[in-house]
Amino acid sequence: MISRSRRLDVSTRTQAWHLRAGGTSLIVDTIGQFCPRVSYWGPEVGDDPAVVEAVLESQGLSVPSGTCDIPLRVGVLPEESAGWLGEPGIMLTRGGRLIPVKLHTTRVESGGADDSPWPLDGPEGQQVGAWLWADVTDATAKIEGRIEIQVTPSGIVRQRAHIRNSGDEPLGVARLVPTLPLPTTLTQIVDQAGRHLRERQTQMHEATIGVHHRPTRGARNHNASTILGAAVAGANARQGRVAYGHVEWSGNVDQWVERTPFGHLVLAGGELLMPGEIELARGETYSSPWLSATWGDGFDAASAKFHSYVRGFTAHPSRPRPVTLNAWEAVYFAQTFEGLSELARLAAEVGVERFVLDDGWFGSRRDDRSGLGDWQVSEDVWPDGLQPLARMVHDLGMEFGLWFEPEMLNMDSEIARAHPEWIMGPRDREPLESRHQQVLNLTAPGVVDYLEDAISRLVSEVGIDYIKWDYNRDLLEAYDRIGGGYAVHGQTVALYALLDRLHERFPDLEIESCAGGGGRVDLGIMRRAQRIWGSDCIDPLERQIIQAGTSLLLPAELIGSHIASPTSHTTGRTQNLQFRCLNAQFYHLGIEWDLRRASEVERAELAAWVAAHKNIRDVSHTGSLVTGLQPDDATRVVGAVAEDGAQAYYVVIQTRTSASRPAGILTLPGLDPDGMYRIEAPIIANNAVVGLPPDHGGHGSTLAGAPAWWASGVIASGAFLAEVGVAGPIVNPERAVLLRATRL
Ligand code: DGJ
Repeated sequence: MISRSRRLDVSTRTQAWHLRAGGTSLIVDTIGQFCPRVSYWGPEVGDDPAVVEAVLESQGLSVPSGTCDIPLRVGVLPEESAGWLGEPGIMLTRGGRLIPVKLHTTRVESGGADDSPWPLDGPEGQQVGAWLWADVTDATAKIEGRIEIQVTPSGIVRQRAHIRNSGDEPLGVARLVPTLPLPTTLTQIVDQAGRHLRERQTQMHEATIGVHHRPTRGARNHNASTILGAAVAGANARQGRVAYGHVEWSGNVDQWVERTPFGHLVLAGGELLMPGEIELARGETYSSPWLSATWGDGFDAASAKFHSYVRGFTAHPSRPRPVTLNAWEAVYFAQTFEGLSELARLAAEVGVERFVLDDGWFGSRRDDRSGLGDWQVSEDVWPDGLQPLARMVHDLGMEFGLWFEPEMLNMDSEIARAHPEWIMGPRDREPLESRHQQVLNLTAPGVVDYLEDAISRLVSEVGIDYIKWDYNRDLLEAYDRIGGGYAVHGQTVALYALLDRLHERFPDLEIESCAGGGGRVDLGIMRRAQRIWGSDCIDPLERQIIQAGTSLLLPAELIGSHIASPTSHTTGRTQNLQFRCLNAQFYHLGIEWDLRRASEVERAELAAWVAAHKNIRDVSHTGSLVTGLQPDDATRVVGAVAEDGAQAYYVVIQTRTSASRPAGILTLPGLDPDGMYRIEAPIIANNAVVGLPPDHGGHGSTLAGAPAWWASGVIASGAFLAEVGVAGPIVNPERAVLLRATRL
């Protein structure tokens, strides 16, 4: 929905547009001689033009002493010419020099869902609830631009900008980063940090005056802040206003939150550009990636908007997410037909639906030092090719998935020897190696064709249903050896083109975005992939945190989560099977464990959890993820509530012992407040059992005690369960139980 209000400013006419969709309002206003400004976004404020007037009135009309003589307007692209001395949103150069820019708004168009100019199909296809285009120009600088704003039906706010060179001299784009205001009542900055094996830990700290800058360099980065925004002090999963954004881009990202002494708190997000990276000839245009943002009372509400938005992507999978077995941690590079076919047989037996052969099947790749980039099946390891294994996997009723790392190469490879000019880096030397590998320059002539041909041939000949698309190093010194200059922008565009071409050729082919675990998690890639690998760390204690951070952006069905070996390969912790299974239940379930080493009893229990997942995924892959608040983080309660509220599952995870009572009250949020629900611990493997003999991990039982209702269940309303809760069981540390809520 869109409504417009007009008002007269002291000197010039101001026009305002009110975009409304999915419970979100966004008010944007323009004055001819300035860049458009978002004056408000957040909860819907109703259709009354007086409200819009009031919002405009409240926008910085006073002039603080010591500043410019007219009120400061922080436009979508904040400019120095408008009096802004914070981080600029636009920086352009000609002949290597910064040029002055003063954007004027010349034309605004707006509309609703019916007349949206964005197509619904194709990777960038987008459902729009309300939208606005503002054309901007600077005749002296010889530039034209457009600012695009959308509010999606899920209530996500999106912005991007385009800049076109209308002059004869090349135009350098040093920065084009759209900005959104944040309410100054949000006093805490929210962002994410991490490293390999511990991605996306959410952190909060006071938003003091200054810039909290969180760029992503290297085009992927385990320390990337996947989300960035602000919150009220004490905000948690269920309470407290939060607002955060995400840059839909898989290359370098520039983003910051800035607080000024004049009462501005802004969120900015776009592409991080290096000098000379974007040079526009006359008539050429550069477009920034979309900055998409959400808000909510509590993180669950804010992330739910992102989940429903992402579920609308053209690439979003529509069929049930197949339970996957990934052979990596089972065999690493030790691939043999006998070993893998035995693993496949056991996988099918426990209910696996997709079998993935990981790294090591090609060229001279017997370890991570050679062969990367040579996408021909290794005759040493697979003398009869991969077809016999793929056929067997298909005959067992599973899909066949294969690992690739298309953007990379080992220096010890046929491809590096044949095409040293294809390697990214300075002309006279190689960048430092990382995992013994370098990066293929996808912008070099012939590279994308080489990859498309090699991958396509294998997809057709072997019968590949799924590609695990890995990416195991950051881009260091990412120069184009042939054309010269920094090439991360071009690399990202070329990657998208390659993925789009493969999807066009093989519409049913699914792709998983993996980057040494969870190093490339963004909505640019998710418009072309159906899963991300959350992390190389499968230890449930670590994974709980990684999954919570990842689900601030992605819905559960896109987050790959595997049931690992009893002893974690990355932390050395040993955990029992139920704990490992429950950690992964709500997500895109997989197994990464050498089942040949599992006992029959373990495989039977695993099969029970896989079978249970096939019911649970109907709820968690279409419904909402919720968090039950606990007095401390010793207990985590994560729930998945069906879209219609008829059913929900909750996993109660005890990470450690706590100084407070071991089993407190469990609040179970997210249910229909008026519905009556039966809460029970379903009988799956050992789930409902108290004080039994040791579980298979040999560490004692899951429960040390259970409330009176445990055996027969308890009935309460959704409102009661959310507000008051039920007495929980005493769960032993590093143990978890599953609860089911069924509406009566
Ligand atoms: C990193 C991935 O995250 C792992 O799952 C595995 O595929 C290895 N790469 C293989 O090299």
